[in-house]
Amino acid sequence: MKKEIVLILDFGSQYTQLIARRVREQRVFSRIIPYNTSASQIQQLNPKGIILSGGPRSTTDIKPLLPDKKIFSLGVPILGICYGMQVIATMFGGKVKQGCDREFGKTELFIDDNRDLFSNMPMNFTCWASHSDCIVKLPPDFVRSAHTLNIPFAAITNRKKKIYAVQFHPEVTHTEKGAQIISNFLFRICGCSGQWTMRSFIKESVEEIKKTVENSKVVMGLSGGVDSSVAAVLIHKAIGKNLRCIFIDNGLLRKDEPAQIKKVFKSGFHLNLSYVDASESFIKLLKGITDPEEKRKIIGHQFIKVFEEEAAKIKGVKFLGQGTLYPDVIESVSPSGAPSSKIKSHHNVGGLPEKMKLKLLEPLRELFKDEVRQLGRELGLPDSIIYRQPFPGPGLAVRIIGEVTPQRLNLLREADSRLLDEIKKANLYHQVWQSFAVLLPIKTVGVMGDERTYEHVVAIRCVSSQDGMTADWVHLPYELLERIASRIINEVKGINRVVYDITSKPPATIEWE
Ligand code: XMP
Repeated sequence: MKKEIVLILDFGSQYTQLIARRVREQRVFSRIIPYNTSASQIQQLNPKGIILSGGPRSTTDIKPLLPDKKIFSLGVPILGICYGMQVIATMFGGKVKQGCDREFGKTELFIDDNRDLFSNMPMNFTCWASHSDCIVKLPPDFVRSAHTLNIPFAAITNRKKKIYAVQFHPEVTHTEKGAQIISNFLFRICGCSGQWTMRSFIKESVEEIKKTVENSKVVMGLSGGVDSSVAAVLIHKAIGKNLRCIFIDNGLLRKDEPAQIKKVFKSGFHLNLSYVDASESFIKLLKGITDPEEKRKIIGHQFIKVFEEEAAKIKGVKFLGQGTLYPDVIESVSPSGAPSSKIKSHHNVGGLPEKMKLKLLEPLRELFKDEVRQLGRELGLPDSIIYRQPFPGPGLAVRIIGEVTPQRLNLLREADSRLLDEIKKANLYHQVWQSFAVLLPIKTVGVMGDERTYEHVVAIRCVSSQDGMTADWVHLPYELLERIASRIINEVKGINRVVYDITSKPPATIEWE
């Protein structure tokens, strides 16, 4: 389907995904594949270029990770990066030595041949390296194209075979001319045209979805999260009313959320959306439950049950639409060298496709998160959806410590809305990863007017993060914290104390449960 593709052979580098993104930033579609993919499989994809990633292993190992040697005879230009360079040197008869002068971090690069890869750049600049092995003997037919003060071969070339290799990392932003090096590889060496844009992606995807789905129907759970929202609008663009979206209100959503979602998708995009108010059943099942994992299990099961019941009412459904993203489907190579697949299914609909005999339709499965946001913008989705902070599937249930009751849900919802309002007014909503309130299972004594009070405590959590795996607490200004606390206490009857969570992850997690 995609006319122009560059393949990245993954040898397990922490930067492999960065390489893919840097290529896409130049409007060339890229895909990460395991390092040992056969040359014939690679040929079938008809790549314009191949990039060999870095990796934690050494080519001096007894059994080093090596690609199919036939890839070098496909006539496709190749760029080796770090370990990928050592792979090239080893396979073409050069020599790699373990434990050279290690280079970690900034290094000055001196260009010896400023054609091809190093066109249009100064003869020396700062690059970022991370290696302890190095090439000590050039393979025959290769020449040196750059060096550093520590290593003689920082870049090597075989122009005739169009094989290029660098010891440093052009994909990291700290390498001064990194983007230019990648651009030179893509356009000067591989002859790419750079036509891959979100607009072209929409066009191709719409055609593909139409061809796949034909006249059958697609059912999809819509939560208002960015991934499922963008996927739904894209599928809708392809098949219109044959996309049936189900929005299940589990009673655990934030204030005004169901109304907002109906407004955006039903009134705005005219999606065929059924709103199912299942809140009573969820709250009933959660009665008396305090254990977080039990809450999650109950909510997950009930979601599937309600979704199945609703989906069964629609005739002719063959597909389940999902907003799965690229990082979830890449078959990455683990540092131990074994290709490992980390495919995960959405927590809410795990098991549904097989049970309901549905095929998966995942139009975003080759996109990174920031690309999904670009796509959403191109499709006309509002910023309130595109830049929405992550919200857990079990919703407010995991932000109420202890039992979930309608009264406690209401207290949290009101407190949370005051907090979000103040964060938005301070222009911080899009800058922080998540900001939310948590209702604690204790009451404390207070004094309001001349009255003693004995009421609930709310904790505020506001964290910065790149991916939710690690997080730090945000140093909110004292004045803002004060405004949040006073609004919650003045406006939400039943809360008389607000505390701020100053724990990072690890050791804590982002959510309290
Ligand atoms: P933790 O609390 O594990 O959260 O540090 C990391 C990220 O995951 C979200 N989260 C969940 N999302 N179902 C979800 O869909 C869940 O059960 C769940 N638990 C946590 C959390 O909001 C944060 O963004």
